[in-house]
Amino acid sequence: MSFPAQRPRRLRSTPAMRRLVAEYTLAPADLILPVFIREGLTEPSPITSMPGVVQHTTETLVAAARQAVDLGLGGIMLFGIPAVRDAVGSASLDPDGVLNRAIAEVRAAVGDSLVVMSDLCLDEFTDHGHCGVLDDAGRVDNDATLEIYAKMGVAQARAGAHVVAPSGMMDGQVGVIREALDEAGFQDVSVLAYAAKYASAFYGPFREAVDSQLQGDRRTYQMDPGNRREAMAEVELDLAEGADIIMVKPAMSYLDILADVAAESPVPVAAYQISGEYAMIEAAAANGWIDRRRAIEESVLSIKRAGANMILTYWAAELAGWLRGTTIEKGTK
Ligand code: PBG
Repeated sequence: MSFPAQRPRRLRSTPAMRRLVAEYTLAPADLILPVFIREGLTEPSPITSMPGVVQHTTETLVAAARQAVDLGLGGIMLFGIPAVRDAVGSASLDPDGVLNRAIAEVRAAVGDSLVVMSDLCLDEFTDHGHCGVLDDAGRVDNDATLEIYAKMGVAQARAGAHVVAPSGMMDGQVGVIREALDEAGFQDVSVLAYAAKYASAFYGPFREAVDSQLQGDRRTYQMDPGNRREAMAEVELDLAEGADIIMVKPAMSYLDILADVAAESPVPVAAYQISGEYAMIEAAAANGWIDRRRAIEESVLSIKRAGANMILTYWAAELAGWLRGTTIEKGTK
């Protein structure tokens, strides 16, 4: 009888031993909470496809931001849903528009104790739901959209965003936003670029979250799920244009892309665990098919392990609460 000399199980023998040898762990500061604010609401409105997530009023949004500070989260990412939309997304530039006002309110409440980020995209603001403006043939017009994005970046910086996050996948978006920010004196405002953003079916629940008006899809601007090499090309362009942080999105179906990008990137890498990833786990847990808490922790940890320095997740507050040993009420995400 020969006994194995190498016994990896020794290091799995107790919780304390496993904790000691853990290669990756999560911390509240790794997490960024995406939040929705909807103009004209008097009460928070539940999003049925994302159980536990709401469209906020200003008041509940500010409360969520304060809670994020208390929990030690890394940041908060704001999405706005305007009451009125038009073909060019005018409300995105209005300092009194829902998103710009929300940025200002949140920033006033949290100061510099939480990184305040804003989604920089037109899809919530246009009546056709595309991420850019359309040309006469109904196609998304890249360069006409860039002009609006540049102004939107300045409007968001003026409102108080620490970080603006262009998510529309227009070519050249990072460069024009950077230049506009610099010209307006916002050299210190960072750009988090959605560099490798794929045309994913898993955005489905988000469309309800922002009352999207989109007919069709975004395949002429978001990446094809079959492409891996192309992600690095997108990342390199965004870095050359001045991106401070780059993002891969979605997360779980794209962990290979995330690992590729993390291996090469000289700047911090973010990943977005999107609405469909959230909804799948919530639905399976609601049916009693998986252990909810363990599935959430494992899913977010897998994203960290693949190489993300920061993770956008709708569970950010709840997860940070677990990490800190305090329980967070449902419906406050
Ligand atoms: C576009 C945007 C989307 C998401 C974040 N920013 C939607 C899309 O590209 O269709 C999706 C986030 C999620 O699904 O959780 N502004």
